[in-house]
Amino acid sequence: MVPTVEWKDGAVRLLDQSRLPGTVEFLDCRDYQTVAEAIRTLKVRGAPAIGVTAAMGVALGAQSINAMNYSSFAPAVIKICDELAATRPTAVNLFWAIERMRRKLESLQAQPVSAIKQALLKESQAVLEEDIDLCKTMGRHGANLISDGETILTHCNAGSLATAGYGTALGVIRSAWEQGKKINVIADETRPVLQGSRLTAWELMQDQIPVTLITDNMAGSLMRQGKIHLCIVGADRIAANGDVANKIGTYSVAVLAKAHNIPFYVAAPYSTIDLKTKSGADIPIEQRNPLEVTTIHGSHPVAPLNVAVYNPAFDVTPAELITAIITERGVFQPGELSVQFQST
Ligand code: MRU
Repeated sequence: MVPTVEWKDGAVRLLDQSRLPGTVEFLDCRDYQTVAEAIRTLKVRGAPAIGVTAAMGVALGAQSINAMNYSSFAPAVIKICDELAATRPTAVNLFWAIERMRRKLESLQAQPVSAIKQALLKESQAVLEEDIDLCKTMGRHGANLISDGETILTHCNAGSLATAGYGTALGVIRSAWEQGKKINVIADETRPVLQGSRLTAWELMQDQIPVTLITDNMAGSLMRQGKIHLCIVGADRIAANGDVANKIGTYSVAVLAKAHNIPFYVAAPYSTIDLKTKSGADIPIEQRNPLEVTTIHGSHPVAPLNVAVYNPAFDVTPAELITAIITERGVFQPGELSVQFQST
């Protein structure tokens, strides 16, 4: 599995996802501004991966701060945190990871600056390693929901590429596959940025997990023909009432699944659960550049360039459409999360 994000020779190394599937290329970020730009431009994307990358961005930025003591060092780190937090608004993992780095910083007030720099690096590495472990545990819980011979529909990319490794929704699928279940995956292409066709199809093919690509508007027809047994998607933020924000188009899949009596699962780690956000209506939804809709890759036009465009990157699936939420702590009803995750 190609690492999505790693600390390499004093830089944050990212697999540039904007170039996949055609080109496997790494971007070495040597300052935190490059990390921020990579998040903004989807060179790294997917809620957990954004969180891990931001934590590494804070650690990277901290290394080059010239300060003699905590009182001049800390404000400079906070400024880096604020800039990284302004990159994308919806995935709560970004804010969770940055907050974790801030708390680490504040816990080290009595230490010399050189020791704090080291500790911040170590903390970001811990965020990365924990993410991989969480995904594997989540995968094992979720794999119990998949039977031999089933076909699973997924939307967007909630795989190894969207995390530090292994994946959430694709982690569940990967785990079922590793258990020897003969499964098939249907990947929605996921307009407009095509995470399904560019990333999910590529990632599953790398692991030789059977995958068939469809355009987003084909899912309902396949469901009606009985060709999909369950749906599993990831999440960018889960509100206290169990409403889930995920890639635009997820809501439509959930409605279709309900209409065809097909289970609809969401897989996500605790860092995606935001109990401070009461319901989906309170989740900020990112609006992106119209060129994502009117062109292919910003150049080849597929619409009149000056047409009015609405381009929200995410939608909200209400809790009542979700069969269960798969986490590293087990599988829960959406309404149970506020009790299960109260203290985190
Ligand atoms: O805009 P993106 O590509 O960052 O959106 C990603 C998604 O919506 C994923 O489904 C979500 O972050 C879960 S990733 C484990």
